[in-house]
Amino acid sequence: MHVDKQKHTFEPKIIAFVCTWCTYAGADLAGTSRMQYPSNVRVLKFPCTGRIDPVFIIKAFQQGADGILISGCHPGDCHYIAGNYHARRRFAAFRKLLEFIGVDLNRIQFSWVSAAEGGKWVEVVTDLTERVRAMGPMVEFKDLVLEEQWSGNLNNPELQAVYEAM
Ligand code: FES
Repeated sequence: MHVDKQKHTFEPKIIAFVCTWCTYAGADLAGTSRMQYPSNVRVLKFPCTGRIDPVFIIKAFQQGADGILISGCHPGDCHYIAGNYHARRRFAAFRKLLEFIGVDLNRIQFSWVSAAEGGKWVEVVTDLTERVRAMGPMVEFKDLVLEEQWSGNLNNPELQAVYEAM
């Protein structure tokens, strides 16, 4: 019963990493056009998606984000020619690493939203917010911290047994 109540009241924190030239302008258009979208989203703008370091994603999760959106200009429209292609390749590799450490990839969305696509911005952030709300709070990194503490204990008898067997 307590869990149901928690689920019902859970409002996810979504961090959106966006490029200033396309997606930020698209989000701004949605705002000035008075389109409605969830207030769960905090937008962080960068010159280009090519400048978004994957470490920022990890940090955002560590600091309490439940979902992440990365969005920039459509392929061929990047203000810096190929920044979004680099970003796409980098995040394709990074997703595998996240999956390996136990992060559910449904918490991350990669999309293209142009300056003219206020409606698409609304659709993307609404879908992601609803999906993450249904998933519940992000707990994977808390689990990782506990595991780190456990494996840091060199006197742990189970670890000793492993070392001795090597
Ligand atoms: S400037 Fe928008 S993705 Fe590069």
